[in-house]
This record gives sequence, structure tokens and C-alpha cells, in this order.
Amino acid sequence: MSTNAIKTRFEEPVMLWLERMPLLSTYTKTKGWPYVIAWCHRIAGLLLVAYLWFHIYTLLSLSSPPSYDATMKFYGFILFRILEWALAIPVIFHALNGGRLILYESFETRDDESMTRWLLWLSMLYVALLGALMLIGSQSVSAVFFWLTMSVAGLTLAYGVTSKIWAIEHSLLWKLQRITGAYLLILIPAHMLFMHLNYSMAHEANTVVMRMQNYFVKAVDITLVVVVLYHAGYGLVSFTGDYLESRSLRIGLAALVILVMLFFAALGIRLALVI
Ligand code: HEM
Repeated sequence: MSTNAIKTRFEEPVMLWLERMPLLSTYTKTKGWPYVIAWCHRIAGLLLVAYLWFHIYTLLSLSSPPSYDATMKFYGFILFRILEWALAIPVIFHALNGGRLILYESFETRDDESMTRWLLWLSMLYVALLGALMLIGSQSVSAVFFWLTMSVAGLTLAYGVTSKIWAIEHSLLWKLQRITGAYLLILIPAHMLFMHLNYSMAHEANTVVMRMQNYFVKAVDITLVVVVLYHAGYGLVSFTGDYLESRSLRIGLAALVILVMLFFAALGIRLALVI
């Protein structure tokens, strides 16, 4: 995929702006866009892992509503609100680019030009939509209805990907990462949108606790915790494995990642069950 190949009438200004950015321009010129996109995917994945750990840790204070409300008041400052919105960029980029990779692996056809165009425009649309919801902040929707719809969509997509990649010659763990990726492609962007439909949805302890007491919502939350920690854990192990020569170091690091992910899974599941 050449740099010019993904420049068309609509995205030309955006691509030109990106190509002029200090660090990015060096790599787009010497290594090309596919290399840059692969690295952006990795960096976004790592940012999401860091945010995921921090997110689970913050949610633990829900066991004491006044302390959760105080934490949310602190994160209500404009700088944190902007950072919260900016999180949509790695989220949607990693989700759509991951979706693009899964599509290639499932159908074995490549059309980088139109895929990158879709990736760019859908990402910008999503980030703008989330910003608009955060500014308006007054919509309301039934949590069970929303999560039922999203779960059906996520499971359907995961089933479709399973039926496509099952026959591919790869390990079961690899296949599971792609299947979890397909499920997350719907659930993670939806999770962020839902949390910003209304300010109280995510920022007021009583509203959050009331929602999490519903058994269906508990099941969705636990599934999401398990799926996302598996996906991220596998990603970390395979990504770091690419750079470590020593087999014992690779095994040691994989064991450490598994332990940390199991620890966060236990925290997340316990929270969903006791609330
Ligand atoms: C939202 C939907 C998501 C999709 C569709 C998706 C898809 C993918 C795919 C296909 C890969 C493999 C990339 C490769 O081997 O080149 C991957 C890697 C990875 N993912 Fe995700 N992912 C999603 C969400 C997440 C989330 C929420 C996290 C973290 C909490 C995460 C963390 C990672 C990490 C750390 C890697 C390894 C980085 C790499 O090797 O490029 N992903 N993802």
C-alpha cells in the first residue's frame, strides 16, 4: 500500500496533515503506512491495557459510594474530561484496525486502500459522536435493552468470525484472540458510548451500583472482563515475544502477564458479584 494509494479526494487534507507530523513523517516516508499503522495498533493496544488496569482499580471504590463519588468529582475536571474523550482515539483506531485485520484473516482478501479510508472516516465519526454525547449529556436509555442489543450483535459477529477462522491452521489461543477481538469490536466502542449517554451513567455511584445489580448486566460485565483480559493478555504475550530472544525470558514474562491478568480478572469479577 503506497502513501499515495490511500490519498483520495476526501481524506487528502487529513493524510497530508498526518504526513507532516514530526515523528510520523519520518516513518511514513522511510517505512510506509502499513508499518506505521501496525505500530499504532500496538501502541494503542498498550495504552488500552494500561487504561483497563486503571479502570478496574478505580471501579473498586464502588464498594464505598461516597469514595467513588469523590474520585469521580476529582476526574470531573476539564483536563480529565478531555483525556477521557481522547481515549476514544486509541479505542476506535485499535478496534477498527483490529477488525480490518480479522476481516483479512477471515476472507483472505486485501483492499488496503478502501479499508484504510473506512478506518479513518469511521474513527473520526466515532470520536466526534462521543464528544457530542459528552457535551449534550442528557440522553437516557434502558441499560438492559442497550446491552441485550449489543451482546446479540457482538456474539453474532464473534460467531461469524469463529466459523471463518476455525479451519485456518493456527493455535486455538490465536483463534480465541481473534474471536474475542470480534466480540470487543462491538462491545468496547458501545461501552464508551453508553457511559457518555448521560453523565450519571458512569459518574454517580448510586446509578452505577443500581445498574450493576441487574443480573443480566452482571453477566455482561463479567463476560466483558474475562474476554478483554484474555485478548489483552494474549496480545501482550505475543507482542513482547517478538522482541525477546531468550526462551526462558519469554516464558517468565508470559507467566507474569497471566498472573497480572488473572489478578485483575478476580478483582473485576468479585466487584460485579458483590455489588
Ligand atoms: C475493540 C475491539 C478490538 C479488536 C477488534 C482488537 C483486535 C486485535 C487484533 C486483530 C490484534 C492482533 C494484531 C496483530 O497480531 O497484528 C490485537 C492485538 C492486541 N490487542 Fe486488541 N482488539 C480490540 C480491543 C482491545 C482492547 C480493549 C485491548 C486492551 C485492553 C487490546 C489489547 C491488545 C494488545 C495489547 C494487542 C497486541 C498488540 C499487537 O501485537 O499489535 N485490544 N487486537
